[in-house]
Amino acid sequence: MDKKVIISPSILSCDHANIEAEAKKINKSSADWVHIDVMDGQFVPNITFGLPIVKAFKKHSEKLLDVHLMINSPENFAEGFIKAGAGMLTFHYEATAHSHRLINFIKSTGCQCGIALNPATPVSMLEEIISDVDMVLIMTVNPGFGGQKFIENSYSKISRCKEMILKQNSKALIQVDGGVDNTNAGKLVSAGVDVLVSGSYLFNAENFEENVKLLKNSAL
Ligand code: DX5
Ligand code: ZN
Repeated sequence: MDKKVIISPSILSCDHANIEAEAKKINKSSADWVHIDVMDGQFVPNITFGLPIVKAFKKHSEKLLDVHLMINSPENFAEGFIKAGAGMLTFHYEATAHSHRLINFIKSTGCQCGIALNPATPVSMLEEIISDVDMVLIMTVNPGFGGQKFIENSYSKISRCKEMILKQNSKALIQVDGGVDNTNAGKLVSAGVDVLVSGSYLFNAENFEENVKLLKNSAL
């Protein structure tokens, strides 16, 4: 049975000197969301961008802004990113002591809420909150950089997450992020993935739209 997969291009790999053009390129494409990686140099060993870049995309983008916070104490910044234009705000389970409180806060604003797991964090940590979130982001590389190698044992983790979602009657989508391309997209979707994030595979392509379509088609 065909399943509609959501494609979220990661602008970590876009041309940051031409944000307006990049936002418009995504608008014109059949990609669904825009994935924005916020890194603080503490939670992950890299620094990227913050509120001004989210605001810049909000100004030019027609797609949902899928903001992935890779920062410590995300509760201190959630409101700012929602006001800047996030439509889906994802924080890391490992980055706060109070996931439940932060999920409730994000949802109370009308923004959708995702929770992310590092490769070393088991899906079982979500047992008590999986019904409360709109999305689970399973990292398929260690967060921090684009262009890394996909971690092969992610498939069984995705299957365990899907089982938990079905068992608890949760509406949560499953997103994967890191090393996603046309060689693994089909298998990921078969394992239960709803949202494919992809950075270098899409932005390093000669033809962006062609690769978005290849991802979509390999997932049919
Ligand atoms: C990694 C980021 C990803 C990154 C993925 O920490 O969260 O969103 O941009 O890049 P690729 O698709 O190149 O692995
Ligand atoms: Zn990301």
